[in-house]
Amino acid sequence: MQVKIIIGTVAFMISMMVLGYAALREPGRLERYTDARQGRQIEMGAHLYDANCATCHGVDGKAEECYDPSSGEPIGCVGLPLNYAPLVCGDLSLRMEAMNWEGSKETFIQSTLTSGRPGTVMPAWAEQFGGPLRPDQIVDLSKFVLNWETEELCSQPLVVYEWQESVEEFNEEFPEGDAARGEELFLSYGCTGCHGNLEDDTSALVGPWLGDITERGAEQIDGYSAADYVYESILESNAFIAPDCPTGPCVGPPGAMPDNFDLRMGENPQDLRDLMTFLLGE
Ligand code: HEC
Ligand code: HEC
Repeated sequence: MQVKIIIGTVAFMISMMVLGYAALREPGRLERYTDARQGRQIEMGAHLYDANCATCHGVDGKAEECYDPSSGEPIGCVGLPLNYAPLVCGDLSLRMEAMNWEGSKETFIQSTLTSGRPGTVMPAWAEQFGGPLRPDQIVDLSKFVLNWETEELCSQPLVVYEWQESVEEFNEEFPEGDAARGEELFLSYGCTGCHGNLEDDTSALVGPWLGDITERGAEQIDGYSAADYVYESILESNAFIAPDCPTGPCVGPPGAMPDNFDLRMGENPQDLRDLMTFLLGE
């Protein structure tokens, strides 16, 4: 009897130790399981991104290199950069702030995907809004996009230029423009994707053709020169909505032209000088 109790007690203690050890390891297992699940979601998101988003948001989400899905030819990226510090860095990123979003970053991305941005070319992706994607695919995509929040991207301080009120003051600070570089920027900022190229007045798809903006720009707003007008159109696209778009009257505000070029060009204001030199020849 005595021996049985001792054996029983020892066996109980051993099993408690084994269980205790397993319990101690449990958080690690859970973490590894969660990591693996997250990893799978990000991987699924990457496939969905390549199939649905890269034509507008570009290779690696940088909105610099985009290709026509049928011909493989390079085209202007009409989407915004997503692999981009002002969108993904911090709990409240600069883009969330600019759009008065108060929820989490994940819900910001998911709701943008779910319902799109009405009035812009960013479509609604969720089935419930007539799009092709299921709710779990929206989640996978948001995980993939937010995976771009890396130490490397987010540790550099963001230096954004404070824009001058008027184009005269701006031109004094940046007196020289390079039209050839401006032409490259016109493609890499995605202007071409919406405005076409300056040689062909039928090439614009979303925004007005800009080949005649030197004359037309000076007639749009009383008291504005063409330079005043182009400066404001790029930095504050919603301040004034142009009357005629290729598909009919332009909509807005907010219009289809992205409203964050002030932020994007704020990292290198010479870009705007070069673009304006290309557009206006001065
Ligand atoms: C037809 C082109 C196009 C496609 C395809 C497209 N987008 Fe967009 N997307 C845009 C444009 C244009 C905007 C900016 C809209 C605006 O001005 O607010 C945008 C905005 C966004 C934003 C918000 C960015 C910000 O800074 O506010 C996210 C996130 C986004 N898209 C993700 C995606 C994902 C993920 C896909 C693929 C499922 C996708 N987009 C497909 C054109 C596109
Ligand atoms: C996603 C499409 C899109 C992209 C990308 C885009 N625009 Fe626009 N843009 C428009 C639309 C639509 C309008 C007309 C509505 C408005 O005034 O906001 C417009 C208006 C303009 C105007 C005023 C045109 C006029 O006829 O009055 C200028 C100038 C302009 N954009 C320059 C640019 C430049 C430069 C870039 C690139 C840095 C650019 N846009 C990128 C869609 C776009």
